[in-house]
Amino acid sequence: TSALPIFSQEEVTSHRSLEDGVWVTYKGGVYDITEFVAMHPGGDKILLAAGGALEPFWALYAVHNQEHVLEMLSEYKVGEL
Ligand code: HEM
Repeated sequence: TSALPIFSQEEVTSHRSLEDGVWVTYKGGVYDITEFVAMHPGGDKILLAAGGALEPFWALYAVHNQEHVLEMLSEYKVGEL
């Protein structure tokens, strides 16, 4: 049911700053979280994942392993890898 565009890893990697936009991937989805960065309860740490995958960080910070966090993330989906 997804009409969202497909992005390359390269395209995602080019979005790793507040200036260029902050994109991340999670389980094959691509998310533009630029607007969320300032609202993140964990502060600037979120920028460590900029341009790449959330999985390794969320494996370390298990606080993200909750339904309400995934719902929040889903609002920022812009495409698929
Ligand atoms: C906490 C969302 C990425 C580190 C949280 C919480 C949310 C959240 C909702 C509060 C959870 C709760 O207390 O119920 C997100 C989203 C992310 C993201 C949507 C990506 C789009 C990251 C990354 C890191 C990180 C990449 C680390 C590199 C933390 C830490 C906390 C936290 C350390 C705990 C803050 C505290 O309670 O003092 N995050 N997060 N987050 N996040 Fe993230």
